[in-house]
Amino acid sequence: MAIRKVARMGHPVLRLKARELTREEIVSAETRRLVQDLLETMEEYGGIGIAAPQVHESVSLAIIDYQEDEENPIPPTVVVNPKITVLDESKQGYWEGCLSVPEIRGLVYRPRKIRVDFKDLEGKDRSIVAEGFLATVFQHELDHLSGVLFVDRIEYGPGTSPIAFTEEYAKHLAHERAEDIGELDD
Ligand code: NI
Repeated sequence: MAIRKVARMGHPVLRLKARELTREEIVSAETRRLVQDLLETMEEYGGIGIAAPQVHESVSLAIIDYQEDEENPIPPTVVVNPKITVLDESKQGYWEGCLSVPEIRGLVYRPRKIRVDFKDLEGKDRSIVAEGFLATVFQHELDHLSGVLFVDRIEYGPGTSPIAFTEEYAKHLAHERAEDIGELDD
């Protein structure tokens, strides 16, 4: 078990389409180690989610560790070979951050409700319906498995301020936009 180095934007591994894991690979000791490393790395860097490509492993595995209710914590969710189905296309915006894009925040609009079909660490088929902030967390993490970063999804253009350094975001943008959008720091 180890804290891994996180790949930062510009490293080619973040742009690959991650390979799906076979059933044998899913239940292997190697995958268990990878999951442990991802958990430790996520904790060290303070994320609420992490995907295998972020530690230079281009395989289709990600972890979501978002606690909606801090008094009743749920264990981190490990998803393998996930597929997203959009259940409600209406868009919601959150300010997103990413361990692989440090010190940057960007406002990203994504569908507000999705279903994620995936395999768990025993290789069993599982399914989760996520809406609101959790839906954004899943979509952000699963984007990493397709080589997509949140900065790709920002709507750039004049008259908007959709991207900012974390410090400037906190100083100028976090408050005025607090009502209709939230934050994702992963
Ligand atoms: Ni990320």
